[in-house]
Amino acid sequence: MALNTVELTPVLGSVVQDIDLSRDMSEATMRAIVDLLFERGVVVIPGQTLAPADYVRFAGFFGRPLEFYIPEHRDADYPEIIHINNDPATPPMMRDGAVHWHSDSSYEDVPGAVTMLFGKEVPDEGGETHFASTAAAYDALPEAMKLRIADLVALHQVGRAPWIEGETQPDPDRPQRRTDSPEHPLVMVHPVTGRKGIFTSGTAYAINGMDQAEATALIRELREHVVKSAFRLTYKVQVGDIVLWDNFGTVHCASPIDYSAEDGKRRLLHRISTKGVPKFYQAEAA
Ligand SMILES: [Fe+2]
Repeated sequence: MALNTVELTPVLGSVVQDIDLSRDMSEATMRAIVDLLFERGVVVIPGQTLAPADYVRFAGFFGRPLEFYIPEHRDADYPEIIHINNDPATPPMMRDGAVHWHSDSSYEDVPGAVTMLFGKEVPDEGGETHFASTAAAYDALPEAMKLRIADLVALHQVGRAPWIEGETQPDPDRPQRRTDSPEHPLVMVHPVTGRKGIFTSGTAYAINGMDQAEATALIRELREHVVKSAFRLTYKVQVGDIVLWDNFGTVHCASPIDYSAEDGKRRLLHRISTKGVPKFYQAEAA
């Protein structure tokens, strides 16, 4: 199955053209899209009209869709779908919770695999999402740094990472699962591609066996390196777009958004996140 694709940048992101998922979610088409996502880190599929049940079925090709831990954000009928909006009623502590560079669920023992957004309402201005390739950033590291970080293990929690320019610190009191305080390798070997990537997300705050001041400096240095312009992509989700990203190969950062119920200023995105390896690859490994 050959997809008609256009690259967004040399290192990251492809748009899939001329495809209607409501008519074609065949194994061949889906295999091609899943492969493309892991090759390119970010995939945009414009012009989609999938019903919620079919959107959940689509997500199931990319791992196991999760039911988000904040019930108020879930769709009433489809708990896998989270509504992301800029409703002025949003409590202050929940606002701009994604305006920092991170990969999803890195504060859990099993990090998120793939996340997708389905554009429903889009403001005329603002609301872009920024991405960076952690794999391309790793490849570009000096050999001495690759050796230095090869076997390091980082500790992760929400709200404790060293911040870098342009970020809004998430509220450490926002609801989260308090049970996980995971350790993840600083150099993550991608579970599908085997490619190495820098895995600090926005939650690494310490490194096993390392002095805290040194660890803070190293984590900040790596985070600043990952988001250099050479590894970056900015994309604004449009109505009808399904935008997917690979959380092991990329980090992302939302733009701050105005909270408004006015026409032209509202935003509504339907988000689904998955965990685990897509079934196509599980079948091959079995
Ligand atoms: Fe996120």
